Amino acid sequence: MIDPVRLNFSLLSDKDNFSNLDFTENDGTDPLGVDIFLKQKALGYRKNNLSAIYTVRVDGELAAFFALSMFAIQVKELHDKEKIGDMNLVSYPAILLGQMGVDKRFRNQGIGYRICQFCLGLAQEVGKKVACRYVILETNEQKASYYKKLLFEQSTKKSQKIWMYRRVS
Ligand SMILES: CC(C)(COP(=O)(O)OP(=O)(O)OC[C@H]1O[C@@H](n2cnc3c(N)ncnc32)[C@H](O)[C@@H]1OP(=O)(O)O)[C@@H](O)C(=O)NCCC(=O)NCCS
Repeated sequence: MIDPVRLNFSLLSDKDNFSNLDFTENDGTDPLGVDIFLKQKALGYRKNNLSAIYTVRVDGELAAFFALSMFAIQVKELHDKEKIGDMNLVSYPAILLGQMGVDKRFRNQGIGYRICQFCLGLAQEVGKKVACRYVILETNEQKASYYKKLLFEQSTKKSQKIWMYRRVS
């Protein structure tokens, strides 16, 4: 596990150059569109207020990114224990971890874990001013076990991809 003091989280800047970073799978595929998102779509998302894009540096070197947006999760897609009394709400407020990628050279050192911890902490902070009950994300079958290790639960939503959530404490 990388020492967290070596990590620096900041918002994407126009000067950040990701051309030498690789967010594809080991076989070069990009099933969740993570590499293509950063290289082709991220600036448009930022410009149009669709996502805040964050970078993670290790000892000053760009290593990872992630994208955050406000979101809501449908109550019917959560397990029963999440449902709050008789409030009859359709959805609960959430932050969407829309994309997350760690460059191949930096994988398996706990950076993905630190990103998730950062998002939970941010959701807690933001939640003091704009309520936020969950951090949620969309992934695939292959990655779901990774997020389960990070205590995300699988939503009951039926779709090609898998939605996962973790309650902000
Ligand atoms: C998924 C990803 C973000 C993980 O980042 P990371 O910094 O390497 O992850 P961490 O170091 O926090 O965790 C690594 C651990 O997760 C495990 N892991 C990685 N991918 C996994 C998977 N698909 N299924 C289950 N476990 C997985 C590793 O074996 C390792 O386990 P260990 O801690 O017991 O040794 C990174 O592999 C990545 O960028 N992949 C390509 C883009 C992508 O898929 N992004 C996620 C979109 S939802």
